[in-house]
Amino acid sequence: MATRAFRTVLATAALALSTSAVAAADGAVNIYSARHYPQDEKLFSEFTERTGIEVNTLSGGSDALIQRIKTEGRNTPADVLVTVDAGRLWRAEQAGILSNVNSERLSERLPASVRHPEGAWFGFSRRMRLIFYSKEHYDAPPVTTYEGLADDKLAGEVCIRSSGNVYNQSLLASLIAHHGAEKAETWAAGVVDNFAREPQGGDTDQIAGVAAGVCGVAVANHYYYLRMLEKNPDLAEKVGVIFPNQDGRGVHANVSGAAVVKHGPNRQNAVRFLAFLASDFAQRYFPAGNNEYPVVADAGITEDLEAFKELGSVKIDDVNVALYGEHQPQAQKIFDRVGWK
Ligand SMILES: [Fe+2]
Repeated sequence: MATRAFRTVLATAALALSTSAVAAADGAVNIYSARHYPQDEKLFSEFTERTGIEVNTLSGGSDALIQRIKTEGRNTPADVLVTVDAGRLWRAEQAGILSNVNSERLSERLPASVRHPEGAWFGFSRRMRLIFYSKEHYDAPPVTTYEGLADDKLAGEVCIRSSGNVYNQSLLASLIAHHGAEKAETWAAGVVDNFAREPQGGDTDQIAGVAAGVCGVAVANHYYYLRMLEKNPDLAEKVGVIFPNQDGRGVHANVSGAAVVKHGPNRQNAVRFLAFLASDFAQRYFPAGNNEYPVVADAGITEDLEAFKELGSVKIDDVNVALYGEHQPQAQKIFDRVGWK
């Protein structure tokens, strides 16, 4: 009960939060999280059950939480930051608010591709950026790779959201990592030439554009399609799913991840929480909130993902996702140069 009440205090008191009171709390871990799913409660209570460490949470947008930790400085109550996309984890690292963790358990449990090389942060679930196509428009998938999105034959067909979105920054960063900046820029210019419309809306709107016949193909993260499948199966029926680059490096995957905050008051508990996120138990619940994929191979996937698996294979690009962050500034410049709004 105490935990729940405290959680409410943290969530509502916002900037009036008494940091000293939080820092003094014994046997606690304070988590600033950009993810909010019902399954998270189950995760936190299991962690408390196993360790006796109380979990306090504060929810917010990624960039706002990063800024807040920065502003709180040495007085921050935050022990752990949870956020989505390696690009955002990179931003947190650049903001100087994270502390490297050297953990044998995390190195053993998590594939190297989802971990920051020096332990600044760790990915605990995967999300795939996929291509969708109109089944009414095409008898067969018109493209099989991200590279193909720049092909002339897709002129006027491609829907994808704006370049201000971190998912696209990470996607372009991955193309820089694989092909170099020059080819990545040619690609980005080719995609802009193929736009069906000016970038608008979120990932769901891109898939909806395909269903409505506005776009021949669209790019979006896999879980948005699963949401449409559940909420609006008639629309989803009109949309075909493409798992790109299966004959090559594999699909572009990003992570939801967590990091230990540099000035957090309960460092040991924070490291224990991260280790817990790599456990079999947590690997079932952490990804499930958003139908993401566990990073620990044999953890099992949600029923929705089981069904999704029938649509295609999921060979995943195993480039280290830290590169998505490193190449982000260059990706943004390329987007600006090629006029990808
Ligand atoms: Fe998302």
